[in-house]
Amino acid sequence: MTNGNGNHRGFWKTRLGFVLAAAGSAVGLGSVWKFPYITGQNGGGAFVLLYLACALGVGIPIMLAEFTIGRKTNLNPVGALQTLRPGSWWVVIGYMGVLAGLLILSYYCVVGGWTVAYIVKSLNHSLDRFANPREAGGYFASFIADPLEMIFYHAVFMALTVAVVFKGVHGGIEKACDVMMPGLAVILCVLMVRSLTLPGAMEGVKFYLYPDFGKITAKSVLMAMGQAFFTLSLGMGAMITYGSYLSEKENLTSSTVYVVGFTLLISLLAGLVIFPAVSFAKLEPTEGPSLVFSVLPIVFSRMPLPTLVSTVFFVLLLIAALTSSISLLEVVAAYFIDQLKWKRKKAVSVMGAVIFLLGIPSALSFGVMKDARFMGMTFFEFVDNLAANYLLPLGGALTAIFVGWVWGTKEAQKEVERHETQFHFVEIWAFLIRFVAPVAVAAIFLAKLF
Ligand code: PHE
Repeated sequence: MTNGNGNHRGFWKTRLGFVLAAAGSAVGLGSVWKFPYITGQNGGGAFVLLYLACALGVGIPIMLAEFTIGRKTNLNPVGALQTLRPGSWWVVIGYMGVLAGLLILSYYCVVGGWTVAYIVKSLNHSLDRFANPREAGGYFASFIADPLEMIFYHAVFMALTVAVVFKGVHGGIEKACDVMMPGLAVILCVLMVRSLTLPGAMEGVKFYLYPDFGKITAKSVLMAMGQAFFTLSLGMGAMITYGSYLSEKENLTSSTVYVVGFTLLISLLAGLVIFPAVSFAKLEPTEGPSLVFSVLPIVFSRMPLPTLVSTVFFVLLLIAALTSSISLLEVVAAYFIDQLKWKRKKAVSVMGAVIFLLGIPSALSFGVMKDARFMGMTFFEFVDNLAANYLLPLGGALTAIFVGWVWGTKEAQKEVERHETQFHFVEIWAFLIRFVAPVAVAAIFLAKLF
């Protein structure tokens, strides 16, 4: 199949292949690593509710909008907007997406590298000899402070990402998702049972599920929204790109519901693994990015066959992280391939190298660059905050305005209904995309400003 530029593009082989790949992009470190730690920093239950509200009210309609633009044009985000509104400035959504992809991937690979390292450390039994929970945290802290180890694992994760994206869409991506998705859900359920049966677990459950709205600030609302965009891979054209490889036969509405449902399930399960263990070990939920890596060894060490369980867990998490990182690199690469006519291998390797270099200060942010401040944050936090809390919601709101008011919900509806039966909830969707999504993002930005 060729697109307007005569470039060959892959297509998903099966319906399930597409849903799994889009869910693969969505489910990743955002659900398993970031969601628990920012929930911990933002007061627990009330933050979880805000996050769910953003994911359902803003995330679902924007995801459907992105799939629709992608399938309509069969192009990368820049090309897609140029095709739908030639010569207009809307193409800026596409460029912002490429930039956001670049920034996010630069620190995503650092955390992906932690996962690779923890597979190695599980296998050589470094993770099952902690005398008490504090030791596990101390071990992780000294690991992430080591510049050589950090850069090495950052490079390994980037190399793995580049290797998969080399192969193009379905060769690499579809296969990886088939195994990872169900596997990750199963192992999280097993860990959840262990965690919930630890002494003192209920205090953690209460923190996680009982909403205390007194703890909500403008900043936590912004973070809840940023997290909804981040976990669902929205606001930067990843889902436009994935939708562009989609054939006409797919049902876009039900695919959207599956992808969002599965991602939320994994995030919520991750919280149910982490918080009971945090209260059992008498740790602080506000610890930050190291929370999950410090807490999990405590759960593993109280299970039969800890080495096996922790290795399997980190392998699955690595695959989940890779199916997300490849979608980030794919957005950047698809732009160079489609728009600038680079060869796939050149686009992927050159951009992989550039993003690796950009990630080095993030890799050093827990050690040698710990005290360097960028607008009051470490480099790692600064890039994450800029991309996840600002660029993604802004990109998403612009996409919503574009589809709702410029391209038009009627055109989008036609695309959704092209090969499938009726688009049932079209009025509700149109209302969410035209009014709710843009207003919610604008209001949250303003609230944060004042
Ligand atoms: N959704 C991915 C995760 O949660 C991260 C991601 C963000 C991927 C944006 C693509 C685009 O891990």
